[in-house]
Amino acid sequence: MMKTTRLLTTLGAAACALILGIGPALAAGKTIDWAKAPEAKTTLFYPGQSSFEWIQNGPDHGGARSFTKKGETCSGCHAEEAADMGKKMVTGQKIEPVVIPGKRGHIPLKVKAAFDEDTLYMRFEFPAGPHNAAPNAPGGKMDADNEIKLAMMIDDGKVDTADRSGCWASCHHDARDMPDAPKKDGLVVTKYLPESRTAISLKDSPRGGWDKTKPAADLDAALKAGTYLDLVRYKSGKGGVSEDGYVLAERVLKTGGAANFAGKKEGDNWVVTMTRKLNPGQPGDKVLEAGKAYTVGIAVHDDHTIGRFHHVSLDLKLGLGTDGVIKAVKQ
Ligand code: HEC
Repeated sequence: MMKTTRLLTTLGAAACALILGIGPALAAGKTIDWAKAPEAKTTLFYPGQSSFEWIQNGPDHGGARSFTKKGETCSGCHAEEAADMGKKMVTGQKIEPVVIPGKRGHIPLKVKAAFDEDTLYMRFEFPAGPHNAAPNAPGGKMDADNEIKLAMMIDDGKVDTADRSGCWASCHHDARDMPDAPKKDGLVVTKYLPESRTAISLKDSPRGGWDKTKPAADLDAALKAGTYLDLVRYKSGKGGVSEDGYVLAERVLKTGGAANFAGKKEGDNWVVTMTRKLNPGQPGDKVLEAGKAYTVGIAVHDDHTIGRFHHVSLDLKLGLGTDGVIKAVKQ
């Protein structure tokens, strides 16, 4: 009899949690008290066509030499001026040939993180933007199905320069919609890492190295050695879709992976939460450990955009129980 009562109470609590929409926390078997998690405020800016090749070329970029020769970080020079930078690209003043009239140049983002023995929890909040019809898309929407997408790349120090440049290690001059994208029907070049190519042209056109992929055996070895950027993504369409993957020779993303997202509009803001096992035990999933810090790059595609028409963070440190711009505190 007592057993039955306890079971019913448990079921009652679960049903209650479902009704309250505590989906992701329930899936991980616990509720995070976000009020207790420190909040990081950062600025996502519109990057235009600032590729891995562009940032390292002196005639293009004022910070090229300090970045390549002196080991400086992007955030070290730009963290305080991201909003001003975004304005230059979004208005077409610099490295952005397709201007979306009225589009915002930056998005303020609030990030919180927490962890326990086996799971990382994150919470992202940013203001929903106005709709500005994109001139390069039918109906003004490049991705009609998804009002927003939120993605995060994670580096644990194994990808060259990613600890200083975040996403830029994966963004190339010959990727989709970039200046040197190959003009071949049906060919879409996604993100890739320099480590997956035999050569990358930094200065001579075409810049990049999309067609210089290393042999499959080398790529397998790189994946096993952890030479990849972990990638997770939330899509707001179809009631919310969670994707998980990585970037090495190309961008790999699939559903049913380690990251579970939930997102909704609360008033004027989007709130997206994520749970992810610290050690998912799958190839392409970084093993995260307490006491360590990771470099993350966060991107938001707002207002139905795709490709480079997103807002991105500079390199951010996520510390699990240790220092970082984003401090995940144990709960
Ligand atoms: C030593 C400091 C320094 C570093 C490190 C640095 N930059 Fe810059 N960056 C500059 C300067 C200077 C400019 C030119 C600003 C201007 O023209 O007013 C610039 C311009 C830019 C621009 C164009 C927008 C603008 O405001 O002109 C982008 C985008 C950019 N940097 C991205 C990056 C990224 C990404 C990294 C890291 C991979 C990086 N920068 C590293 C100094 C730096």
